[in-house]
Amino acid sequence: MCKVIAVTNQKGGVGKTTTTINLGVALARLGKRVLEIDLDAQSNLTIGLGFNPDEIEYTISKLINEKANNYNYSIDKEKFILSSEGVDIIPSDILLSSIETKLLNVMNRESILKNIISSFKNDYDYILIDCLPSLGTLNINALVAADSVIIPVQAQYYSIRGMEQLLQSIVNVKEQINQKLHIEGLLITMYDKRTNLSKEVRKTLQEIYSVEINTFDTMINISTKIAEAPSQGKSIFSYQPNSEVANNYEQLAGEVINNE
Ligand SMILES: Nc1ncnc2c1ncn2[C@@H]1O[C@H](COP(=O)(O)OP(=O)(O)OP(=O)(O)O)[C@@H](O)[C@H]1O
Ligand SMILES: [Mg+2]
Repeated sequence: MCKVIAVTNQKGGVGKTTTTINLGVALARLGKRVLEIDLDAQSNLTIGLGFNPDEIEYTISKLINEKANNYNYSIDKEKFILSSEGVDIIPSDILLSSIETKLLNVMNRESILKNIISSFKNDYDYILIDCLPSLGTLNINALVAADSVIIPVQAQYYSIRGMEQLLQSIVNVKEQINQKLHIEGLLITMYDKRTNLSKEVRKTLQEIYSVEINTFDTMINISTKIAEAPSQGKSIFSYQPNSEVANNYEQLAGEVINNE
């Protein structure tokens, strides 16, 4: 059985891409077959795993475009898959930035990604979608395609603002199109154990949401190493395998597997 997880938060820079890359590699290290989909025109996931989006022809943009033109388009899967550090990747490129406008007049525009993913599900245990920071059509596509969502939340004062909008968007998709959608968990990222602020954010999140929403026990510590890794095109597991933050992502993978 394949589980599709969207890593999403319309707030920018909260650790979505970092989490997708490293959770995926951590799951692969535990023997799971993993596909990571880059659903952001910034292509940070693609670049962070060592690829140059300007040189790639077969991307998620091309897939969405083809499916928008012909819902029955048959996917030549091998062409669209890159591999790095034990995970497969469907890369993105800058053309993804104009796709939402194009989709405006397309039938089934909210389920195109689900249609695409259905061709890949048999080959993987986990498909992780790295969402863009917005609540637009592409993000709705991710929520429609997903079984669950992971919401990275930066351990900062303003993080909780905007959360209601995201949760509402999830509820809407759940009620209207995808009943099985659920929240895998809120994930506190960039946690700085030296500051009271980090502790307060965690406490506030638990106070507001703990009844209805799982917060992962694992928190991702703030780390310069994990911020450096993408510039080398590497996950934390090949850049600094013995770091505390590599350990955090390994522990997170364990929690995700145990959630089954
Ligand atoms: N645990 C961490 N400690 C320190 N820096 C981090 C950590 N996690 C991520 N970063 C850095 O913070 C920045 C934002 O992270 P990331 O790109 O993963 O966020 P994002 O939510 O995907 O952003 P966007 O909304 O732009 O897609 C990056 O420079 C990243 O390297
Ligand atoms: Mg990102």
